[in-house]
Amino acid sequence: MSTEAECRPPAISLDEYRRRRRRLMDNLPADAAVLLLGASLVTRSRDSEFPFRQDSDFHYLTGFPEPDALLLLLPGRTEGECVLFCQDRDPSMEAWTGYRLGAEGAVRAHGVDQAFENAERDARLVELLAGRVTLYLPLGDASALHLAERLHEALGAWSRQGGQALPGLADVAPMLHEQRLAKSDNEVALLRHAGDISAHAHRRAMRACRAGLAEYQLQAELEHEFRWHGGSGPAYASIVAGGRNAGVLHYIDNRDPLRDGELVLVDAGVEFDLYAGDITRTFPVNGRFTPAQRALYEVVLAAQERAIEAVHPGTTLAAIHRGVVRDLAAGLVALGILAEDGEETPEAIVARRFYPHATSHWLGLDVHDVGSYRPNDEPRALRPGMVLTIEPGLYLPDDDDLPVVFRGIGIRIEDDVVVTPEGHEVLTRAVPKRVADIEALMDEK
Ligand code: GLY
Ligand code: MN
Ligand code: MN
Repeated sequence: MSTEAECRPPAISLDEYRRRRRRLMDNLPADAAVLLLGASLVTRSRDSEFPFRQDSDFHYLTGFPEPDALLLLLPGRTEGECVLFCQDRDPSMEAWTGYRLGAEGAVRAHGVDQAFENAERDARLVELLAGRVTLYLPLGDASALHLAERLHEALGAWSRQGGQALPGLADVAPMLHEQRLAKSDNEVALLRHAGDISAHAHRRAMRACRAGLAEYQLQAELEHEFRWHGGSGPAYASIVAGGRNAGVLHYIDNRDPLRDGELVLVDAGVEFDLYAGDITRTFPVNGRFTPAQRALYEVVLAAQERAIEAVHPGTTLAAIHRGVVRDLAAGLVALGILAEDGEETPEAIVARRFYPHATSHWLGLDVHDVGSYRPNDEPRALRPGMVLTIEPGLYLPDDDDLPVVFRGIGIRIEDDVVVTPEGHEVLTRAVPKRVADIEALMDEK
């Protein structure tokens, strides 16, 4: 892969952020307002903090990168419909924690109509919200609700003087998350880039892998690549699970040694411009699958490839998942691991015992991205621009009723896929998943 500077896709433009805000406002009733809080710094321990990560909804509507900001959308307001509040300029703090844009900088660099510093915030909010009938905010955000309560008190005093009603509260999340679900071409380009960096990280881990390394050393190989190519780091805690650890779906300890003769399951992806990659590959620590590992791996791979082929506009994630469970069950029957004539169907046993998670989730600014899976209680039909994962797996416990050679093996194979008008595009093609291709790459060390 070429360097980040040579091939990074364009950042989301100010125009695209404007169009997103316009679209949200166009879906609101008259006299509504939207209030959204950005993320704050979170203490890690004593006086050190986790690296700042902007709230995804806030980023989606503003691209504003600082902590403690607030967005107010006021459709139809002649002095400006988009008002941002941000940290006060403060040279003594900026000397420690970095330059702040301040109100002027926010207007200049982020294309909002008006900006104020936080020192003015609550008084200005009362003034700006007076007369609005409905205030849309994320009802799941305790800080936003707390602020709304305080504003209500202040607005109550104001409205007694002016005779205006207090705004009612409504949830902005469903509307905003519906909007985030289908990605623009620019967002898909960023997700493609995140997929490509993540794929190269997995290739690097495969090449570096050998018995005797610790799981965290493969993690280091992956995360080196994430940062090297300009990502902020992992989009979620990297999973490097040797042997039986693969059966723990969210195993993140990554402390055990990698052992000769075992498989290692790696589930890791970069965050690039806040967009997530999410790839899983499972490969032999020593570079060669045993016949039993290979047989089980081929079952998961066949199910995964068929599921990817099934991605096209109009189908549903539920239908794709049913196909995966059917294929996994048929594969386990063919291997003699499951019988067809038991009391419970092979599909039911697979879902209960060997494959306890869904095949897909949405992918975007969040690794488990937003958007309802069942609008109006019906499975959602896929549309071009939706981005999802396809990640079947089989996790065979160490149980006496299973053939010894298959016990304790966990396998997952995961790719990121965008729905296109013609069908789909796989965003994470650059890392192999066929047995021969994995073994050839691992030979390259
Ligand atoms: N890495 C989390 C997931 O695949 O859903
Ligand atoms: Mn996933
Ligand atoms: Mn994953």
